[in-house]
Amino acid sequence: MHKPHGGKLIDRTLDAKSAAEWKDMEGKLPEIVLVHEKVQEVTNIAFGVFSPLEGFMDEADYKSVIGRSRLANDLAWTIPIVLDVDIKVSKDYTRGDNVLLKDVTGKIFAVLTVSDIYDYDKAEYSKNVFGTDDKTHPGVRKIFDMKDVLVGGKIDLIEEAENDFSRYTLHPKETRVLFKEKGWRDVAGFQTRNVPHLGHEFVQKTALSFVDAVFINPVIGRKKCGDFKDEVILEAYEELLKHYFLKERVFMSILLTEMRYAGPKEAVFHAIIRKNFGCTHFIVGRDHAGVGDYYGQFAAHDIFDQFPEIEITPIFFRTFFYCRKCASIANDKTCPHNEADKVVFKGTHIRNLLQKGDVPPESMMRPEVTKVILSHKDLFVGSSPPEAVVG
Ligand code: ADX
Repeated sequence: MHKPHGGKLIDRTLDAKSAAEWKDMEGKLPEIVLVHEKVQEVTNIAFGVFSPLEGFMDEADYKSVIGRSRLANDLAWTIPIVLDVDIKVSKDYTRGDNVLLKDVTGKIFAVLTVSDIYDYDKAEYSKNVFGTDDKTHPGVRKIFDMKDVLVGGKIDLIEEAENDFSRYTLHPKETRVLFKEKGWRDVAGFQTRNVPHLGHEFVQKTALSFVDAVFINPVIGRKKCGDFKDEVILEAYEELLKHYFLKERVFMSILLTEMRYAGPKEAVFHAIIRKNFGCTHFIVGRDHAGVGDYYGQFAAHDIFDQFPEIEITPIFFRTFFYCRKCASIANDKTCPHNEADKVVFKGTHIRNLLQKGDVPPESMMRPEVTKVILSHKDLFVGSSPPEAVVG
């Protein structure tokens, strides 16, 4: 098994005694209330999901990440992990201060040791990370909604936040032990934000021909309007794994983070995270973490050329589709037939069918998976119908 990114798994969790001491400081120290996504990021830092990060980025790392996709110490890293605060609030702290971090219910869950307070340019951030500053891009819109000052500093976790999917939650320390206990030497990580269609399954199973196991690792957290709800994705995967996978060749647990829709840069970020979970390989298919037409279908393959030292092996896949003539799932490397014979797996098309209560053909989605999806009344994030949403 490869070492975590940067060589060591970060653990920024406090023992019970220190945690209680920090909690007792309530009222005596400044506080910041963090939204759910930021609470997730603190948790990821604390349990080593984002190793080697030990906190929110200082300006040197932030600038280096957006400018050259590396931390200041040269280690590959493509997505800023930053804490934004109001200008007014930022004046309450200086370097060296301890700030208690609270969730929106008012519970203290972590402490931040401030090491930097700095301005940033949202358009520059967006263009560098997303390749655009177009505010109709859901990831870019999120950046422009951020507050105006960034605060960097190491964090220490006082108490892990509860989440609705705790039975699917494993930290890197645990997945690493689990993979070892199962005797898996090579594990391919699979990122997803979707319910599984046959294209996904073929990507996973083709990878499985080369490695010992596949680690299905759905992103659970903030997604754009029109994406599938977390519980629908997990139940759909449960069905797929139950009926179509060998138990001893697959494992699923979740990644608690938001989708950025940053395409290629997010693919590298996703790979690094799965390296930290103990994967040796990472699956990258068509338009990984993409949205609309912002990224080339295989831009997320090409970007890995910039990181030959990354120590997780990407496995690249062309687009899988169903070919009527082959009577099987195929891709453009395996199928010689015409476009007219091909049924492509388009997320928007599948979402539209399911939204209307229609059953997608079995050449597109497993019937058991369809059934469990359609047993839900509410399939999608937000209230807009999928037609109104990019991607
Ligand atoms: S993503 O935003 O998490 O990338 P999704 O859950 O749809 O979206 O995709 C998960 C993984 O499967 C990604 O690596 C993606 O590139 C790949 N993928 C999805 N559909 C196909 C397909 N038809 N052919 C090949 N790869 C695919």
